[in-house]
Amino acid sequence: MKRREFVGAALSSSALLLTGRGTSAPQSKLADARIDVLLNEPIGTIAPEIYGHFVEHLGGVVYDGIWVGENSKIPNVNGMRKALIDALQKTKPGVIRWPGGCFADSYNWRDGVGPKKDRPRRPNFWLDAGEWPKGAPDGPWKYDTNQFGTDDFARFCQLTGSQPYFAANLRSLNAKDFYEWVDYCNAPAGTTTLAEMRAAGGSREPYKVKYWGVGNESWGCGGNFAPEEYVVEYRRFAEWVPRWGMNLAFVGSGPNGGDLSWTRKFFGKLAEKGGFGRMWGWALHHYSWNVSQGRTSDWVQGKGDGLNFPLEEYYELLAEADRVEKLITDNWAIMGEFDRQHRVKLVVDEWGAWYKPGTELHNTHLLGQQNTMRDAVLAGMTLDTFHRHADKVGMANIAQLVNCLQALFFAHEDKFAVTPTYHVFDMFAAHQNGESLRTLVAAPHSNYLRAAKPATLRGLSTSASRKGNQLTITITNPDHAQTRDTEIALRGARVKEIKVTILAASDVKAHNSFANPNAVTPKDGRATIRNDGTVTYSAAPASVTRLQITLA
Ligand code: AHR
Repeated sequence: MKRREFVGAALSSSALLLTGRGTSAPQSKLADARIDVLLNEPIGTIAPEIYGHFVEHLGGVVYDGIWVGENSKIPNVNGMRKALIDALQKTKPGVIRWPGGCFADSYNWRDGVGPKKDRPRRPNFWLDAGEWPKGAPDGPWKYDTNQFGTDDFARFCQLTGSQPYFAANLRSLNAKDFYEWVDYCNAPAGTTTLAEMRAAGGSREPYKVKYWGVGNESWGCGGNFAPEEYVVEYRRFAEWVPRWGMNLAFVGSGPNGGDLSWTRKFFGKLAEKGGFGRMWGWALHHYSWNVSQGRTSDWVQGKGDGLNFPLEEYYELLAEADRVEKLITDNWAIMGEFDRQHRVKLVVDEWGAWYKPGTELHNTHLLGQQNTMRDAVLAGMTLDTFHRHADKVGMANIAQLVNCLQALFFAHEDKFAVTPTYHVFDMFAAHQNGESLRTLVAAPHSNYLRAAKPATLRGLSTSASRKGNQLTITITNPDHAQTRDTEIALRGARVKEIKVTILAASDVKAHNSFANPNAVTPKDGRATIRNDGTVTYSAAPASVTRLQITLA
């Protein structure tokens, strides 16, 4: 079948579906794809917390990435890299998770408060990781100097306009230590000894930390618990925490990948013992890596490369990322068996691409990797998925903020650059607080080979949201070669004006670096409004687009 014929076939079956719902006008012969935005079918408000980040004491995230020191020549605010603060603030980060990850379950918050000169040096959780690049010197990334602690992180959140989300140590500290951390952060000025300690070292006013993770990956580095064991620990930690009049929001540690029995057992046991208390979120982690293309099972080297990847790995990685939708719906269904009103939301508090070592920008940046247009496409598809499930996903945190995994930033000494993923976050921020709307998509799939067998990836990814007369539609075309000529029909409103922003490059491997920081940047694009009100737009191969529409 020729491409045009294939497209026609795909569209005619989709058109039947749409007509069946009573929503579709006849398809234009010229269009490859069609998006219907149903303005009268709201899904839920897109929480700003979906635009969350993750900062772990891991490689170059904190030391070199954020923390440069108060006496550094690198422009800084209270020791934190100013360029990063300014760029991050622009994207309206909803929330930032800290201090881990696996690191969190080995961290004592007391080490990071009080006079900086008196703070202890401790071995970092990641000291023995097999992924360390050759020749990585000792330094705070291996032996944590604790120069960046609770007060610094709280200040970082204030400076970037985000809320803090702390991950408590459930594996190697006691519940009492957790209560005291909450006390240090939230007790009103002058009330407790810890509030006075906070005033001496950081802030008289409480930080009012609402979000608290009760452990991290408790099935693995967070304690190797069985679900029946974790639920007991969770209850002990979360039940009697001092509230100081606040509505604290606790997040439980969810399953390893698709292990739904962890979710079922945890929720079943909590329900048996009387309910969910102050549990607000259930954490899912979803990393995407290349799993099949003739790779070995070696945890470190078995993954794909961040920069030099064959086309099959391009598609496979995106298909792996796309599994997040099923993870959301599967977990949600199980949670609903016990939590019938769905009081507990999903929190995807680690997500992103994970490649093998070798493309990091400096050898102290453990788990550092390059970030190409492929990563931008992954980010666009994933954020669209979160929007389409705005009724379920209350928070999400890309891993990690800087110099690690799917970072938004690269920083080393005085050098700084933003990645293609950063631009996606910047473009998509317009969705925050919008009412997510249902969309229907008809677009031909991309075909590729997965472990030498034919496989497909969704044709276009999209989501739409409305704030008054402003409609934001984002469209990601994952196909590496095909432009998708797309008709966009608004069901229940008419277009007055349209502004297009596009992130694209001639090569899926295009990326930014310290030497060439603007190789990938967004540009203005063009869409057409037809007389019948339909918008036509050509989505370039491997591109991410934002349409900002003023409604008539
Ligand atoms: O983000 C890196 C690590 O991945 C985190 O520390 C851990 O939670 C996950 O396994």
